[in-house]
Parts: sequence; structure tokens; C-alpha cells
Amino acid sequence: MPEKNENDAPGVPGGPVTDRRDFLKTLSRAFLGIWAVGGATALASYLKAPEHNEASSERTVRVGMLADLRLGEAVVVRHGVKPFFVIRLDATKVIALSAVCTHVRCILTYDRDRRAIVCPCHDGRFDLNGNVLSGPPPKPLPSYEVLTRAGEVFVRV
Ligand code: FES
Repeated sequence: MPEKNENDAPGVPGGPVTDRRDFLKTLSRAFLGIWAVGGATALASYLKAPEHNEASSERTVRVGMLADLRLGEAVVVRHGVKPFFVIRLDATKVIALSAVCTHVRCILTYDRDRRAIVCPCHDGRFDLNGNVLSGPPPKPLPSYEVLTRAGEVFVRV
């Protein structure tokens, strides 16, 4: 049976019980400190606004083969929240225009017969240069650069 030392009694400064308590307090403070730093770092990275570099956000989207685009027809390319039309005007000319109305962001439709882009929400109309023809849209449609390489059509958005 181990001998009982008077320093084993609770509350005696410098004894083993006090040393153990001090050690556990220090250890728990260290863990809380590490947890707090980690939590603060996670919170700061969540609250920090993402860096937005216009040049880096530009992407080139492959649309398809030029031969598959029929003259006068439009295809809608679903590109996240920025869908766009690709319209083949003649044998060589292809344009790309946003398919999102500049009024309250309805998705537009292409009217082949009138060669216009029409908004089903409030009857806004745009020409094939993206200019507003009529209705409430406050500004023209954004257009995008179209590239043709080896018979394939790409749009830089
Ligand atoms: S959303 Fe297109 S005209 Fe209103």
C-alpha cells in the first residue's frame, strides 16, 4: 500500500493534486485557445468577400461545329446564370448575345421570323445587335466575342 504524503491532500500548494489541476487547466486553456483561433479563422474566411478579377472570370465556351448551326437559327447555350444565344447570320458571321433580359432578368426567346429577341415577361424586344427596339428594358443586351477555330465555334464570356 502506498504511503500517504501530506502533499497529496487537496489544496496544498505544490502538491501532486494541485499540479494535476494546474496541468489540466493549462491543457484545457490551450485547447480552447486553439479552438478559438481555428473558429475565428474559419469565420474570417467565410465573411471575407471573394476576390473578383474580371480577367480571370472570362471563359471560353465551346458551342459546337459551325456546320451544325443553321443559317438564321439561334441556339441557346446554358452557361450557369448567364445563358446566351449563338445566332448564325450568314455563311461566316456568327454572333453571341446574352439571353437574359436587362429589365428584370427574364430568359429571352428568339423570334426567327422577325429576326429579333423577345422577352416573354413584359414584351421587351431587342434587335440582333442587342439594341432595345421596344418595351421596358433599360439597356442593350451584352454581346460576346465569337471565335471560330477549325470549324468549331467558341464564345468568350
Ligand atoms: S423582364 Fe424583359 S421586358 Fe421585363
